[in-house]
Amino acid sequence: MSVTETATDAAAADVLEAHNQPVLGHAIIDRDHAEATELLERLKTAEGSEFVTLFCELDDHLNAHFKRENTLMTLFSYPQQDEHSADHTRVLGDMARFRQRAEQGRIRFAKAYVSDQLPGWLGLHISTMDAALVRYVNEKS
Ligand SMILES: [Fe+2]
Ligand SMILES: [Fe+2]
Repeated sequence: MSVTETATDAAAADVLEAHNQPVLGHAIIDRDHAEATELLERLKTAEGSEFVTLFCELDDHLNAHFKRENTLMTLFSYPQQDEHSADHTRVLGDMARFRQRAEQGRIRFAKAYVSDQLPGWLGLHISTMDAALVRYVNEKS
């Protein structure tokens, strides 16, 4: 798939709309946002080892997701790349710390993070930084 492909698939759009997340109009980015949203949803009710497995899956997903966006920013010489990538890096640092604790059996920190902080951060990040990136990329494509 080309990084400039813009057609969002219907399945991703359905997930985003069901969770009041904006559909930005970029196939790869919208699919990543749908996947992150679904993982967060599943984490809400997960317990014990299932929670740890899902939390690791979310961490792996976010690493790949942010890397794809960072690559896109580099490719398009995106002017706000530093600020946007720094936001990704900060969250990946939090995720890595909570993952390490969760893998050692201390899951309450990760649980609090995915219930109290991450959904709000993701919603804001998507509707501001990612939306601005997609507007820029789609204008230049
Ligand atoms: Fe994103
Ligand atoms: Fe982003």
